[in-house]
Amino acid sequence: MKTILVTGGAGFIGSNFVRYMLQKYPDYRIINLDALTYAGNLENLVDIADCSNYIFLRTDIRDREKVNQVFSAYDINYVVNFAAESHVDRSIVEPEVFLTTNILGTQVLLDAAKKQWLIDPEDKYCKEYKSDVKFLQISTDEVYGNLGAEGMFTESTSLQPNSPYSASKASVDLVIRAYHKTFGLPVNITRCSNNYGPYQFPEKLIPLMINNCINDKELPVYGDGMQIRDWLHVADHCSAIDVVLHKGAYGEIYNIGGNNEKANVEIVKLIVKTLGKSENLIKYVKDRPGHDRRYAIDHTKITTELGWEPVYCFDQGLKDTIEWYINHKKWIMDIVSGSYITYYEKMYSHTYKKYFNNLRKG
Ligand code: NAD
Ligand code: TYD
Repeated sequence: MKTILVTGGAGFIGSNFVRYMLQKYPDYRIINLDALTYAGNLENLVDIADCSNYIFLRTDIRDREKVNQVFSAYDINYVVNFAAESHVDRSIVEPEVFLTTNILGTQVLLDAAKKQWLIDPEDKYCKEYKSDVKFLQISTDEVYGNLGAEGMFTESTSLQPNSPYSASKASVDLVIRAYHKTFGLPVNITRCSNNYGPYQFPEKLIPLMINNCINDKELPVYGDGMQIRDWLHVADHCSAIDVVLHKGAYGEIYNIGGNNEKANVEIVKLIVKTLGKSENLIKYVKDRPGHDRRYAIDHTKITTELGWEPVYCFDQGLKDTIEWYINHKKWIMDIVSGSYITYYEKMYSHTYKKYFNNLRKG
């Protein structure tokens, strides 16, 4: 049995990935380590919470002692690191937590993995690791910065991040590269384009617009709405991560994208039309500072070297996503009301302490 430590597994992509892996690999054990910030929500995983090969641990990746305890307690083969502050707008208002979680928190995980996986952790020249281990970092296309009207990001495009969020992700990509080059840590980095699909927190473009539109609220489009993103269904992202985890060559970076460039306002209009509402709901508002104009991913490498391809068509994927939000009104209401955060604060602060006290007692 293989054990995968998924960090940030209570968030949007992480929860989709945990479910995908449990379904596809019933003989794997999945440990979901998540701090349950505002973006983490165990409601995303209620259907699998009782699986015997699934364990949830409420832990902050910045907490070195607890992370080390987790690595000592479980024989971990793979780390898939989703845990991050992920919203660009928040990073403009409050950059510090982006740097501490996304960079320093990831470094804590890297150190713990290195210590646990090295054949001789006391020897600073040792580059020999246990077999079948890997650290997979979930990065983003935003590390490459802004594109003009032409061209696409390849894995060798230079890193030119423009927001505190993308700067934190680019910084830690370099730290991971250094851990591979200096210590030989078996790593991969994936850089994916914008995701959409079920369980996405309604601060991001697509769920925010769906929720506002359902409730006849204004749809705030930044600037002229002609910024372009390359959209990928979260299920396609999960299958790509699976492929890189099992087949990716150590030290390599893989771009993941959907060949699906859309202007923001085009998507908003599609949502309005699908929900049968009026375009009068659209409100052009002041642009985001440092707003990147266009992203586009060239995913030739993962396609030709690892055989991955996206299967979702955007129009159908968006329709399914809208339907999912219509059918999950309570899920979104709980988030918007913030009630689930209060609930989990109460539930897990005690459970967590009890868990580690028991672990210490052996
Ligand atoms: P999300 O904000 O929905 O989820 C992040 C999760 O990380 C939450 O469950 C949160 O509780 C947890 N977390 C945050 N800080 C933590 C900490 N200090 N310790 C432990 N857990 C912590 O994010 P998402 O959209 O699911 O993105 C997941 C990853 O994928 C991120 O690393 C992001 O950079 C990357 N990514 C996202 C997209 C996208 O379109 N959403 C695209 C490419 C890459
Ligand atoms: P977002 O979902 O925040 O993802 P990212 O900034 O990581 O690409 O935003 C996607 C695009 O939508 C981005 O160009 C900003 C734009 N946007 C709006 O126009 N209005 C909004 O209310 C939001 C949240 C985003």
